[in-house]
Amino acid sequence: MSFSNAPLLTADVRAEIDRHLAKYPPEWKQSAIMPALTIVQDDHGGWLSRELLDEIAAYLDVPAIAVYEVATFYGMYDLEPVGRHKICVCNSISCLLSGSEELIAHIQRKYGVAPGETTADGKFTFKEFECLGACKDAPVAMVDKTYAERLTPDDFDRLVEGLD
Ligand code: FES
Repeated sequence: MSFSNAPLLTADVRAEIDRHLAKYPPEWKQSAIMPALTIVQDDHGGWLSRELLDEIAAYLDVPAIAVYEVATFYGMYDLEPVGRHKICVCNSISCLLSGSEELIAHIQRKYGVAPGETTADGKFTFKEFECLGACKDAPVAMVDKTYAERLTPDDFDRLVEGLD
């Protein structure tokens, strides 16, 4: 495929996006928006600036609005700077009925942050999430890319213990 002028995207990132693009017919480049957002976010400190969204659109050769729509719809994309680790706690119905509020209150007390906030030391960004898709094992949280199911506050403490 041809490279656009995409200085914010490294060669490795472009190659990774290309691997996803290769799965789809050339006229369906929009299908690669989600993996491209994930790849670029992982490569840029866990969040996506407006410039990066525009670069992704240019690289995929799709309208910028198509990238904005996806990036603003899904909770796993962050559009502002985040901490070194993301703590995402599901608060949809199965998790709510199984103790997610207790977990959320525990995290708020432990770190002094409300959902959507980052700790003062930049270590954690805490997010409340809609269904994480593991309802039968509620309550569920995701710490960075690790799922934790049937999570109690004590389990949570053990999970984050070793993080720097
Ligand atoms: Fe929490 Fe589905 S409701 S994972």
